[in-house]
Amino acid sequence: MSTVGILGGTGPAGRGVAVRLASAGYDVVLGSRDAERAALVAAGLISRGTGSVSGASNDEAAGCAVVVVATPWDSAVATVSSLKEALAGKVVVSMVNALVREGRELVPFYPPRGAMAAQIAFALPTSMVVGAFHHLPAAEMVNLDSDLDADVVIFSDHAAARESVAKMVNAMPGLRAVVAGSMSLASAIEAFTAVCISINIRHKAHSYVKLAGLSH
Ligand SMILES: NC(=O)c1ccc[n+]([C@@H]2O[C@H](COP(=O)([O-])OP(=O)(O)OC[C@H]3O[C@@H](n4cnc5c(N)ncnc54)[C@H](OP(=O)(O)O)[C@@H]3O)[C@@H](O)[C@H]2O)c1
Repeated sequence: MSTVGILGGTGPAGRGVAVRLASAGYDVVLGSRDAERAALVAAGLISRGTGSVSGASNDEAAGCAVVVVATPWDSAVATVSSLKEALAGKVVVSMVNALVREGRELVPFYPPRGAMAAQIAFALPTSMVVGAFHHLPAAEMVNLDSDLDADVVIFSDHAAARESVAKMVNAMPGLRAVVAGSMSLASAIEAFTAVCISINIRHKAHSYVKLAGLSH
């Protein structure tokens, strides 16, 4: 089974993905700007499967077979650009949402290429960038006792990479992969996160996306 590195993996988003990947049998490396901090965070996580979670530098996480980007949006491009060689030829999964606060709401912020996944793909022309995990509430992801039953909308211009990420997602407890299509959907998918979070703030909830009408 592939190893998965998570850049910025010490945050709530990275931790949630790590716990569910390890529970699916993957060995996960939480990357950080501070490897010691990552080791402490990894040691505090509880997963249930045969996989493991360890902490390391972002450089070491970038050495894994599949790499997830889980930094804040305004540092994602700089982070992946500094690791461009290590990420060449690999599947790089962006879960990054560009959002800014306006009053009580978080609203979408559109970077020059329309979406963070597209910005990351532009920065990594020799990687296969896939978008996934955007709409998941981290608090539900990290808690394996939650009754999470969420869909993960997946997009990429690389069909094989899209399918390999879908396979990985389907192995993670509580998640179902739904392949949506190409990178051209990225801005709509990322912007919808602002809707999810604003609903959660207003309703004091950790809701998530579940699509009706699919046969699988
Ligand atoms: N939270 C959620 O529920 C959720 C769900 C889906 C998607 N997302 C997306 O996932 C990403 C991470 O979310 P999060 O809530 O985990 O964010 P976060 O806690 O703000 O940041 C995640 C990690 O990124 C690293 N980081 C922070 N500033 C950085 C910088 N200037 N340069 C490089 N690394 C930096 C930090 O790790 P170190 O200090 O250890 O390096 C931090 O622990 C965001 O883009 C978000 O939109 C979040």
